[in-house]
Amino acid sequence: MTQTMEHTTTTSDVFPVKGVDYLQFLVGNAKQAAHYYSTAFGMTCVAYRGPEQGYRDHAEYVLVSGAARFLITGAVHTGAPGAEHVVKHSDGIYDIALEVPDVDAAYLHAINAGARGVSEPYDVKDEHGTVRIAAIATYGDTIHSLVDRSGYDGPFLPGFVTRAPIVSPPEKRYFQAVDHVVGNVELGKMDEWVEFYGRVMGFTNMAEFIGDDIATDYSALMSKVVADGSRKVKFPLNEPAVSKRKSQIDEYLEFYGGPGAQHIAIATNDIIRSVDAMVAAGCEFLDTPDSYYDDPTLRARIGKVRVPIEELKKRKILVDRDEDGYLLQIFTKPVQDRPTVFFELIERHGSLGFGKGNFKALFEAIEREQELRGNL
Ligand SMILES: [Fe+2]
Repeated sequence: MTQTMEHTTTTSDVFPVKGVDYLQFLVGNAKQAAHYYSTAFGMTCVAYRGPEQGYRDHAEYVLVSGAARFLITGAVHTGAPGAEHVVKHSDGIYDIALEVPDVDAAYLHAINAGARGVSEPYDVKDEHGTVRIAAIATYGDTIHSLVDRSGYDGPFLPGFVTRAPIVSPPEKRYFQAVDHVVGNVELGKMDEWVEFYGRVMGFTNMAEFIGDDIATDYSALMSKVVADGSRKVKFPLNEPAVSKRKSQIDEYLEFYGGPGAQHIAIATNDIIRSVDAMVAAGCEFLDTPDSYYDDPTLRARIGKVRVPIEELKKRKILVDRDEDGYLLQIFTKPVQDRPTVFFELIERHGSLGFGKGNFKALFEAIEREQELRGNL
C-alpha cells in the first residue's frame, strides 16, 4: 500500500497538470456550431479569430461556461489544416488541451516516455502577453496541446479578439466545468492507452470496469479510467468487448473512422434546471425506460437524493450511489449526424464515480437508438 502511494506521488509529479485548458472541435461550419452551443448548451462566445484578423485558414469561436472552454474551428478553404479531419471524421474533437505549469518540461517528459510529438514548444505573443504551447499525439487523430498561459491576459490565445455573445447568455449557466473526457479505442487497445497515460503523464487508474459488469444482451464494452494525481483531469478509455451483436463502441469506431473522443461530461450544479433549459432549446437526451424508476430496488440502492425520484423520472435523469456519495447524470443523443460524439451532464454529490450502476440501463437505451439507425 505504501509502495503504491509513493509510486502515485512520484509519477504524478513528473507531469503536473492544472486542468483541461480547452476542447477543440473541428467542424464543417463553425459559425453554426457556435450558435448551437450558445443556444442549446447556454455557452457564451467570448473570443473569435478568422480571416478578418488575418488568419486565412480558419474561423474559430471560443465559448465558455464557467471553467469549461470550447474552441470551435472551421476551415474556410479546402486546403486549410484540419479540413481533412472533418472529411474523415465529420464534426469531432481534435484537441483535448491541458494547462500545464511548464510546457517544456511536460513535452520533454512525454517525448522521452515515447509519446509522438505534434509540435515542439513555441511561444505565441500579442499585446496581451505570451502563451507557450506544445502538442503531443494521443489515440486516433486526437492530440493534447500543452498550454502555459500564466504570462497572458487576453480573451483566449494570442490573435483572438474579444467578441460579443452570439445570443444573450442565460441567467444561470447550464454547466460549470468539464468533468471527464472519454476516448473510444479499438478492440484490445484499451490497456495500451491506459499504459500510455501512465507512462507519458503519470496518470493512475482511478476506477475499473470490466466487461461482465456492463454487458447487455447485445453489446458490451470494457472501460478503465485514468486520472492525474489531483483527479482534476479524468480520462475514461473504452474498447469494444466481444458480444453477440455490434457494440456501441464498434458503431462509433466505424462512423468516426477510427478512435476518438466519445463523450464529454460537463459538471452542473442544477441538472434539473439545465436539462429543462436544454430540452426547451431542442437538445435531445437519451430516453430511460420507466421501469428504471419503478424498480423497487432503485430507492433502496440510491437512498436519499436532493430531488424526488418523480422529478428525475420526468426528465429521465439517472442516479447512482457509491461509498462516497451519489451522482445524477443524463446523456445527450449524438450532437452531429454521425452516431459519434455526445455529452453527459453530471451533478456530483460526493461520488467520484462514473455511474457504473447505470451502465446497463444506459446501454440498453443506446442500443434502442442503434437499432433505430439499423446499426445493431
Ligand atoms: Fe461519462
